[in-house]
Amino acid sequence: MSVVGTGYLGAVHAACMASLGHEVIGLDVDEQKVRLLSSGKAPFHEPGFDELLKEQVDAGRLTFTTDPADVADCRVHFIGVGTPQTSDGDAADLTYVDAAITNLLPHLGPVDGRAPLIAGKSTVPVGTAQAIAERIAPTGALLAWNPEFLREGFAVQDTVSPDRIVYGLSKDEAVAAESKAILDEVYADLLAREIPLVVTDYATAELVKVAANAFLATKISFINAMSEIADATGADVTTLAEAIGHDDRIGKKFLRAGIGFGGGCLPKDIRAFMARAGELGLDDTLTFLREVDTINDRQRVRTVDAARTAVGGDLAGRTVAVLGAAFKPDSDDMRNSPALDIAKRVQDEGARVRVTDPAAGAVLRARGSEFDVVDSVEEAAQDADIVLLLTEWRQFREIDPVELKKVAPAATILDGRNALDPKRWRDAGWTYIGIGRP
Ligand code: UDX
Repeated sequence: MSVVGTGYLGAVHAACMASLGHEVIGLDVDEQKVRLLSSGKAPFHEPGFDELLKEQVDAGRLTFTTDPADVADCRVHFIGVGTPQTSDGDAADLTYVDAAITNLLPHLGPVDGRAPLIAGKSTVPVGTAQAIAERIAPTGALLAWNPEFLREGFAVQDTVSPDRIVYGLSKDEAVAAESKAILDEVYADLLAREIPLVVTDYATAELVKVAANAFLATKISFINAMSEIADATGADVTTLAEAIGHDDRIGKKFLRAGIGFGGGCLPKDIRAFMARAGELGLDDTLTFLREVDTINDRQRVRTVDAARTAVGGDLAGRTVAVLGAAFKPDSDDMRNSPALDIAKRVQDEGARVRVTDPAAGAVLRARGSEFDVVDSVEEAAQDADIVLLLTEWRQFREIDPVELKKVAPAATILDGRNALDPKRWRDAGWTYIGIGRP
């Protein structure tokens, strides 16, 4: 099989498919990335991925190429290219999906007498799969949509042990049966473990992915709205989340209030979903997602406001330690990172900002950061007027407040992820500020 696009999704999918015993070729236009992956080195930080990649490359089951002709013998082509937000609006940019199909088209012919299958994994606006099916129809190739739900930081685990597998198949029964048979072979190991399989049409499969992400984003913004109410009333949003989470219908997950969601998926997926609804003449249907987005942005503003207030009303000239740059722990991804955005806003107000992040720090430095990037919490916090915890890395959650106070005598911490024990920090002499926590 081939995996077209070796970014986060594609590279992990390729290595995981190889680990299931398949022979996999990753295809990408980026020569540098292909060289790095071919040598068994991961271009991003993802727990467990380096080892898996090296193991599969060494075993000879996994190769990478920039030449589409190299994938002509593959029976399955997974499409794992990015669908970022367009530069001038909310919609998804399908340039890379279109280019992936264009590059494959000349190489799509029967393999061992059978039609090859293109299996889309990228998150796309509903209707995209049908359009691709029509484009590839003259070659005889089949199309399925097989969305991916992996979370960064758990990408390998989520790929080999997903919560569910979704096949979006053609309305043509013969095409659907043949596509399903091929996917069943690909995922035989997972299906044998009774991982739930949902078989549906293209439109539903495309929607499952965006609906799931829209729901998750809504949950986060819901609890963040509650955090604003809690801040105004002296209530504690973490206790509130725990209490409502005991209700199985609500559940405890994704109710962590804080500086909000970021990353390469949630923010752009809810915007693309709204844009697509507009195209379908359903402008009003998803306007609540605009509010979800607005609440999310407001958490960033509120955090900067809280930091400013905590240092006496003006950030100019203050020294601010920022713990965390990645959009979440166990990742070096800073796409739409609330941490980085807050650091930038604080710096724009004239503060001296020192940033540290166990994985993203090196990436920030390599790309010539506008911030002072340092290697340790102690360096970042040295004489800081305020410490902002913005990404809840384990290393930060385990900081000893007594020790840290020795380098930061101002002893003020804003816990943007509600990740610390307020009592422990206050007992150590710190002014502790949480999000929606008294
Ligand atoms: C998300 C989806 O979870 C995944 O299924 C999909 O395939 C891709 O998008 P990911 O972007 O890796 O995955 O991150 P996720 O774990 O969902 O977190 C997204 C953001 O929400 C992070 O910035 C995180 O810090 C934030 N978050 C999450 C909260 O602020 N509160 C929560 O309770 C949970």
